Formats: sequence, structure tokens, C-alpha cells
Amino acid sequence: MRLLSASYDHSYQAVDSNALRRSPESLDPTAFFARASVKNKFSTAIEEEVLEQKLEGKVALITGASSGIGRATALALGRHGVKLALVGRSAERLEQVANKSASETLVLSTDLSAPGSVKHVVDATTERFGRIDILLPNAGIYIPGEVAEGDPNAWDKLIAINVSAVFRLARAVLPSMIKQASGQFIVTSSVAGHQALVGEPIYSASKHAIQAFVHGLRRQTMEHNIRVGSVAPGIVLNELWGYTDSVAVDAKVEAREGLRSEDVADAVIYMLTRPANVTIRDLVILPQLQDI
Ligand SMILES: NC(=O)c1ccc[n+]([C@@H]2O[C@H](COP(=O)([O-])OP(=O)(O)OC[C@H]3O[C@@H](n4cnc5c(N)ncnc54)[C@H](OP(=O)(O)O)[C@@H]3O)[C@@H](O)[C@H]2O)c1
Repeated sequence: MRLLSASYDHSYQAVDSNALRRSPESLDPTAFFARASVKNKFSTAIEEEVLEQKLEGKVALITGASSGIGRATALALGRHGVKLALVGRSAERLEQVANKSASETLVLSTDLSAPGSVKHVVDATTERFGRIDILLPNAGIYIPGEVAEGDPNAWDKLIAINVSAVFRLARAVLPSMIKQASGQFIVTSSVAGHQALVGEPIYSASKHAIQAFVHGLRRQTMEHNIRVGSVAPGIVLNELWGYTDSVAVDAKVEAREGLRSEDVADAVIYMLTRPANVTIRDLVILPQLQDI
């Protein structure tokens, strides 16, 4: 009798169930799991190779690369051979990321709320690497609180970084992506871009703007083989929430109350490596116990 067995990489292969029954080893669970473990390692190695084929040699520009989600994503992309332009204000912290990265990097220290900064980072990246394949507008700031007590100047700054800089980056990168007939944009949104949160109406509004932008831009650019999407995390345990201590992060992760920045980086790698006929437009990623 022939059966189909699924391997870790979702390919199927025929197995002879009579032979399995005849083999005493097939009744030994230790031997079975030892075989399965070798097979899983083999399949995982194949998956890694496929990922590298899809990403190796590509050029990514990532903002907010000096910490948190941007840093974790940059390091993950570097491990897959992606050349990186790292953008943020702190040159020192960007250099630290560049030193840890496994791939070629360009450090671009700039304040994205300053006029001309977006053009500068796009021009410098194109000059160094010749093209941009992946744009990850990720830099963002968080302002919670009561509107009746808020600071409108601080809101303007938030809109400049969370929203305007994203529009401007798209404007600066799109013409070359259209010319090369390929490209991927993944913007870091938030679950606050999918539902308005009572404690943070200004921040929620900025991320709702990003969601609308992503949906419209995707439809404007899809004919040019450009894929546009957003990754929308819930609570990520990093500096945005004041988490700098890995012990405190580990405890919250263990309690399933928060994500690591690396969890979001994994989601971004997943989005970037889908087959060419697939776009993940919106990916919401939450800690298992975030009740939202
Ligand atoms: N942490 C969360 O729970 C969470 C949840 C949902 C969505 N998000 C979103 O995730 C994105 C990344 O945040 P994160 O969680 O990784 O927090 P983070 O560690 O505070 O990172 C923010 C990044 O933005 C950069 N940045 C801030 N202002 C900038 C400016 N004016 N010019 C250039 N770069 C600037 C920072 O770099 P410098 O300080 O070096 O400038 C830093 O690299 C943001 O868009 C945030 O809204 C975060």
C-alpha cells in the first residue's frame, strides 16, 4: 500500500506502509524522531538556501535602523546577503549595526524630519549601490496621551517622521523602481493603524494614514511589478516602550505579553520572500496575549 507523507518543506513523497510495518525500527519512536530530525534539518537548510537565492545581492534602504525593529530587520537581511543603507539620527548606533552586519552596508545619519534628508539618503544609496530593490520606511516616534493636553508642535514632528517621510521616500525611490520594473516596499505600520486606540489618537491617526497610503500606492504601482505592503505589530518590547534590559524583555516574552523586534523582522523576511505572484498587503502581528 502506498501512502503520502508530508515533509517539513511541504513536499510530499510516497512511502511503502508495508515496508514500514515490516521494519522493527518503524515501531521505535526514538529512531523515528531521530530520522525526522535529520530530515527537518535538511529541509530547513533547503529553505534557507531558497531565501538566500531570493534576497542575496539585493539592495535595501531601511530607516530607523539604529534600534528596535529596524536594527533587527537590517541584521536579518544582512544574514541573507542583502546590501544595506542604514538610516537614523545616531551615527554611532548605526555604525554598531553596520559592524554587526554580515553584508555590505552604508551608514546614513540624518534627521528624516529635516528638509532634503530623504533625497539625500536615496541619492547616496543609489550612488553607492547602483539601485534600490527594497524600501523599508520604518522610522517612527510614538506620542500617547490626551489630545486636550497635547503639544501640537510635537504632533507636527510625529507627522513629519511617521507619515511625510514615508510619502517622500516613496516619491524619491519610485521612478527608479518603475524603470527597473521591480521593487518592494514594506512600511512599518502598527495595530494602531487598523483600529483607533483610545490612549493614542494622534499616533493611531498617523498609522491609519500609512494604511491608506499603502493600499492606494499598491494599486498605483502593481502594473510595474512593484509590491507594496505594511507590517503592523502590536506591543514590541524595545526602546519605544523603554525596554533596554534583555532580562525584562525575556520575562514579558515568556509571559506571551510582548514581541521581540526579531519577531517582526521574521515577518518582514516572510513578506519579502513570497513568490512573485503573491503580495502580503497587511500583516498584523501580535503578542499571543495582547487583548486588542
Ligand atoms: N515598539 C512597538 O511596540 C511598535 C508597535 C507597532 C509599531 N511600531 C513602529 O515600529 C517602527 C520602529 O519602531 P521601534 O519599535 O523599532 O522603536 P525604536 O527602537 O524607538 O526605533 C525607532 C527608530 O526610528 C528612528 N528615528 C526616530 N526619529 C527619527 C528621525 N527624526 N529621523 C531618523 N530616524 C528617526 C530611531 O533612530 P535614531 O534615534 O537614531 O534617530 C530608531 O532607529 C516605528 O514606525 C513604530 O511606530 C512599534
